[in-house]
Amino acid sequence: MNGTEFIIKAEDSGFGAEIGGVDLGGVVAEETFAAIREAMIRHKVLVFRGQHLDDARQLAFAQRFGPLEGHINRGTRHDALPKIQVFGNVDQNGNTTGVHPERGTLVWHTDKSYVATPSMFTVLRSPSVAREGGDTLFADMERAYADLEEDRAARLLELHVVHDWKRSREKSNERAATADEIAAAPPVEHPLVRTHPETGAKALYLGNHTSHVVGMERAEGEALIAELERHGTQAKYIYRHRWRDNDVLMWDNRCTVHCVTGYDAAKERRIVHRAVVQGDRPV
Ligand SMILES: [Fe+2]
Repeated sequence: MNGTEFIIKAEDSGFGAEIGGVDLGGVVAEETFAAIREAMIRHKVLVFRGQHLDDARQLAFAQRFGPLEGHINRGTRHDALPKIQVFGNVDQNGNTTGVHPERGTLVWHTDKSYVATPSMFTVLRSPSVAREGGDTLFADMERAYADLEEDRAARLLELHVVHDWKRSREKSNERAATADEIAAAPPVEHPLVRTHPETGAKALYLGNHTSHVVGMERAEGEALIAELERHGTQAKYIYRHRWRDNDVLMWDNRCTVHCVTGYDAAKERRIVHRAVVQGDRPV
């Protein structure tokens, strides 16, 4: 990409932006990297088209943002590079499995909110892209919170929510959490509204990993979370990413939720490779 200018093409809403003029597989200069990071904070979701990364380069790029996290779900770990996770519906012989991998990805969530220090950024590439379906949707939880009526927004600041890997898997009808996974990720409490450690902006922090609201009757808490999620995932807060070959997608988990749209897992071939940068404890 010699001579190509660094370009940020933001969505009209400001939520989501496409970055041009960068080769993530090559040497990304320090000032370019700083501009990417700044764009990340401003736009929350970044798309890089036409990138030719292998796993090692994906890892190297993600690592520049901070230490990477492994995952408690051993079944999805990359054989040689355990900090890369692989989700796909293609088996070792190259045949489709007919099964959507990790059904929890089909419902709104923010990555790893079931641990004490959940993910900051996720960097995703898709070596095989579904031709129909398999879009990644993002919702802007800062705008969703900012649009709440003032008194209500203030009251929500008092609430804490338990996030729980085991409960998350029950809700998405996935295989049950294993004893090892439960030991590695016991239920954890986070504020319902978290403050972005870099911008100070407040965002709803919820999604499928939530179990219940602390101090509230279960059904009432679940109804509250469901209602806030419906509010926050209205079309006006959403950015839809339609995958093309050689895209790299990254997002800030501290202020967004995301999910993938369904696809025909017998017909389509969809594989994603994910690297996750560690974040701070939500406050
Ligand atoms: Fe995710």
